[in-house]
Amino acid sequence: MTSERLRAARKYESEKLPQVPSGILPAYHLTGGIGWINDPNGFSRYKNEYHLFFQYNPYDVHWDAMHWGHVKTTDFLHWERLPCALAPDREFDKDGCFSGSAIELPDGKHLIMYTGVRKETLPDGTQAEYQAQCIAVGDGTEYEKFSQNPVIDAGMLPPGGSAHDFRDPKIFEKGEKYYAVAGNRCPDGSGAVLLFESDDALSWKFRSVLASSGNRHGRMWECPDFFTLDGKDVLLVSPQEMNAKGLEFIDGNTTLCLAGSFNPVTGSLEREHEQAIDYGLDFYAPQTVLTADGRRVMIAWMQYWDSVGYTPEGLPFFGQMTFPRELKIHNGRLYQMPVSELESARREKTEHRNVTVSSEISLPGISGRIIDLTVNVLPGNYEYFRITVAADNTHGTVITYNPGKGTVLVDRTLSGSPKDILNTREFCVSKKEGKIEMRILLDRYSLELFVNAGSQAASFTIYTPLSADGISFSAGGTAVINAVKYNLEF
Ligand code: FRU
Repeated sequence: MTSERLRAARKYESEKLPQVPSGILPAYHLTGGIGWINDPNGFSRYKNEYHLFFQYNPYDVHWDAMHWGHVKTTDFLHWERLPCALAPDREFDKDGCFSGSAIELPDGKHLIMYTGVRKETLPDGTQAEYQAQCIAVGDGTEYEKFSQNPVIDAGMLPPGGSAHDFRDPKIFEKGEKYYAVAGNRCPDGSGAVLLFESDDALSWKFRSVLASSGNRHGRMWECPDFFTLDGKDVLLVSPQEMNAKGLEFIDGNTTLCLAGSFNPVTGSLEREHEQAIDYGLDFYAPQTVLTADGRRVMIAWMQYWDSVGYTPEGLPFFGQMTFPRELKIHNGRLYQMPVSELESARREKTEHRNVTVSSEISLPGISGRIIDLTVNVLPGNYEYFRITVAADNTHGTVITYNPGKGTVLVDRTLSGSPKDILNTREFCVSKKEGKIEMRILLDRYSLELFVNAGSQAASFTIYTPLSADGISFSAGGTAVINAVKYNLEF
């Protein structure tokens, strides 16, 4: 049954979305079209299509009363908008339908598992927020909330687990059972991922603490995802209040990948490797889906909480998703590259080979704002190599590789930000005698960088005027490069 609140959201969408000129939206990065979005939710394959939901406030470009927006795709390039799927309209989720996931059931139904948020006024007048895991079952458009919600509540937490910070269930199937991982705050005040199990995806019990921060990797752990990839068990989480560590981890909200092997006796992940997932200024709450052909594909909110809200005036939406990325584990590291479907959007190839770069040059045909550009710097002796994109006389987003330090620095100071927020990020890459490959995806409001076949990825929102489409190259010393650029069309 459609509630008043869901009906209102759908009516608002159907009135406002058609008024948004398509040229104002990113060409291939998903937004809500209107309103605010944050985390990707319910990324799942259902009846041979990929459904994606997202944290959504249709009414304004600010976070408020979380609904679930809904889209689907067959190619990760074109998304069909579907009516808002969930509104906070029941006692158990009246203060928000927070993040969660989805799965296809054997009976052909689509099951959503999400966090219901409920605030209560305590006898002393203060407010307490309670978070518990809820279910809704549907057909790919209409979802009915389960009458026995919540299906996982505070009563199932291990001793000392917080009923206030308990959210973002990711459901998956293994063998004969369903499992769900969810973020929780432990008695030591830091984050953990809890593992739950079920025979029917409706009735759940606590299994184990899969992993915990122990105050080493930030505080509350949000938005976990857990899967097996290339022989490793991989946990992705988004810690809050992380403390920076070298160039690997940043302060504040960030992302963490832990890879190792799941111990079925203890129910915990034995860690062998840890790394940040993305090294840019804008990446949070990633979620993955397994494709029909066996690829593990990840999408994330292309934004950090610490810099929300700073977009130029007049855009009808806030929040974008990254372009979907295929994940691999290679030599223990998480690798990520744009899904191969993007190649079908490539038009007009421009290629330059063995170009010598020292003082700043542009190359014929290498410019544009909706492009897929790969630059290979050949092994050589130079102090730095620099690419400036989205440039005109006053703008430019600058990517600098320093082979001596083995770092890449991205500086978006001149990229149209209306505020003096953090605009630079530096991260480590392999030194490899000055050899580096950089693939750059540019869209109207973003830059995603993939280094050395996806060994590092870095995502940035930029709000540079769209007429700034220049690209130039320079080097300290002499570098020799190959460059291939495609315009992208959708
Ligand atoms: C992460 C997060 C989640 C929560 C959602 C609320 O960005 O804080 O933990 O479910 O956003 O919108």
